[in-house]
Amino acid sequence: MVDVQDLTGRIAVVTGASRGIGEASARALDAAGARVVLIGRSVGDLDRVASGMQNQPIVLPADLSARGAGTTTAQAVLDLVEGVDILVNNAGIPMRRTPSQLTEDEFDEVFAINVRSLLMLTVGLSDSMIERGGGSVVNVSSVAGINGPVGRVAYAGTKGAVDAMTRALAADWGPSGIRVNSVAPGLIATAIWEESRQNVPGLIEDLQDGIALKRWGVGEDVADVVVFFASDASRYVTGETLVVDGGMARVGTSKVKLTELDD
Ligand SMILES: NC(=O)c1ccc[n+]([C@@H]2O[C@H](COP(=O)([O-])OP(=O)(O)OC[C@H]3O[C@@H](n4cnc5c(N)ncnc54)[C@H](OP(=O)(O)O)[C@@H]3O)[C@@H](O)[C@H]2O)c1
Repeated sequence: MVDVQDLTGRIAVVTGASRGIGEASARALDAAGARVVLIGRSVGDLDRVASGMQNQPIVLPADLSARGAGTTTAQAVLDLVEGVDILVNNAGIPMRRTPSQLTEDEFDEVFAINVRSLLMLTVGLSDSMIERGGGSVVNVSSVAGINGPVGRVAYAGTKGAVDAMTRALAADWGPSGIRVNSVAPGLIATAIWEESRQNVPGLIEDLQDGIALKRWGVGEDVADVVVFFASDASRYVTGETLVVDGGMARVGTSKVKLTELDD
């Protein structure tokens, strides 16, 4: 029987591979057989992740915040490998600001990494995918782009943009064999939550209450879905967003029991 999740011989690029969801995704792609290019700024962490991988991983230090960074990083990738089959656009930063707190510089900062570099890196690698007969782009968005979170208007905007670009790119590149999908994580216990964990006592427990499965996610919960989208298991799926949140954004978790309500 053919293993449709086998990625042997494929070359994958993962941004933000130095920790969290990106680290778990890089490890899962490697375990499925892919050779992985790991991108991020923290060289020590990238080396740590790569050292536990088996298929000749490549560490490519890059800062995706500046104008032009997506394009130059794509070129740097193509200088290192003969082509790309899988791109996981995972690098991202949070931006917790109310509408009145948010400055224009902060707006630009979060859109530069979460949206602009993501798109330009993808465009920069698309010809290589087409030359190899197609490929799979997996964008990491967020339930924040779907459910209207409080105090995170700019971050939510970036993630909504990622899901919209996912559908648009799927239309542009479907005829060339490139599939483009996004994974929208819910609450995943990574470093991205560190500031909130320290500043808002009880927040972690309160948020957990709103998850149907009653636990926070871990990077591997998202990584397995990334492998699904990267692999031939999802060969007839493109332009989709799959929510990975244990039942939160679109699942009712109200404590009020229906039997307690008047009809
Ligand atoms: N955790 C959650 O609950 C959650 C929920 C929904 C969506 N997400 C999304 O999932 C993705 C990963 O988040 P995470 O939770 O794993 O966060 P994380 O642990 O903070 O990891 C973020 C990654 O992005 C990289 N990165 C940040 N700025 C960068 C830059 N300027 N250039 C290059 N790389 C950069 C970081 O690498 P370096 O520091 O080494 O550069 C790091 O590897 C993000 O897009 C986030 O928005 C997370």
